[in-house]
Amino acid sequence: MMLDKVKKMMADVEVFKTTSKDEIEAFRIKYLGSKGLLKELFNEFKTVDASMKKDLGQALNKLRNAASTKVQELNESLENTQETKSFYGDLTRPSEPIELGARHPISIVRNRIIEVFSKIGFTVSEGPEIEDDWHNFTALNLPEYHPARDMQDTFFIEKDPDVLLRTHTSSVQVRYMENNEPPIRTISPGRVFRNEDISARAHCIFHQVEGLYIDTDVSFADLKQTLLYFTKEMFGKSKIRLRPSYFPFTEPSAEVDIYWGLETEVDYKITKGTGWLEIMGCGMVDPNVLKNANIDPEKYTGYAFGMGIERIAMLLYQIPDIRMFYENDVRFLEQFKSII
Ligand code: PHE
Repeated sequence: MMLDKVKKMMADVEVFKTTSKDEIEAFRIKYLGSKGLLKELFNEFKTVDASMKKDLGQALNKLRNAASTKVQELNESLENTQETKSFYGDLTRPSEPIELGARHPISIVRNRIIEVFSKIGFTVSEGPEIEDDWHNFTALNLPEYHPARDMQDTFFIEKDPDVLLRTHTSSVQVRYMENNEPPIRTISPGRVFRNEDISARAHCIFHQVEGLYIDTDVSFADLKQTLLYFTKEMFGKSKIRLRPSYFPFTEPSAEVDIYWGLETEVDYKITKGTGWLEIMGCGMVDPNVLKNANIDPEKYTGYAFGMGIERIAMLLYQIPDIRMFYENDVRFLEQFKSII
């Protein structure tokens, strides 16, 4: 019976599924093409008995609609999946390498110094960059008109001599002594400011790490051992010398040189042919400084030291010009990518 045949085709159309463009086209030609099944059926329809025409006509129309809806639906879903595909790209493709940032060499060296000192019990202390006269100078045994104030040319803020940019992080140590009881073991990393001409070797803004150790019976020998430990850990060098020097806040005071060696041409150049390199200042905290911070100098003694981070970074990475640290040229910064 023709009606049964149509119903069977209807079921076939309904279950038909594909994601191939070619198969959709073949389906369309099979049912709806000019020589397709529906064409054939409609031709046959003309010959059937009039009593059958109503049901059969309806069934044929349904079949034709179902076939053309099917073609439309399949094409639409094909377009959608193609869109999705182009939106996500090829999900199986290997990913682009992720660009990693680099830590700034100043941060790398500062972190390393902190690591070395924290192993022997030093804490990290910080303080304000804008300071008052007391914490930057007076408490450090540098009263007004003391000639040693000229050792560090100062930036003052708005002509007020009591508001200035700290010239060293010794100011942090004064604050630390004021707020903590001995024993004290702390290092103070931070940015400092000096009114100096900018050149390859000097800048008006740079970074320091200063250290302070206060307890009963702290001696110069303790200072020397600590410095030796530091130079071994930091540079892998174990020969140092202390040259007498002067700082208002320490007595006695010394400058620390490390024996860098004279193995390469660069060694020769940076040590000016001597093999020795100056890396920091140090000394025993002057009793006046302890007194100023309400620490009893009869009971306690201590040592202090201070170094410039830029100088150490320049030595470690053989950076020829201090200005490179502040220009943020990515070609320079990129070179520190693999270093933590
Ligand atoms: N504060 C000194 C400076 O900035 C460094 C220093 C610190 C020297 C502690 C001796 C002791 O140059």
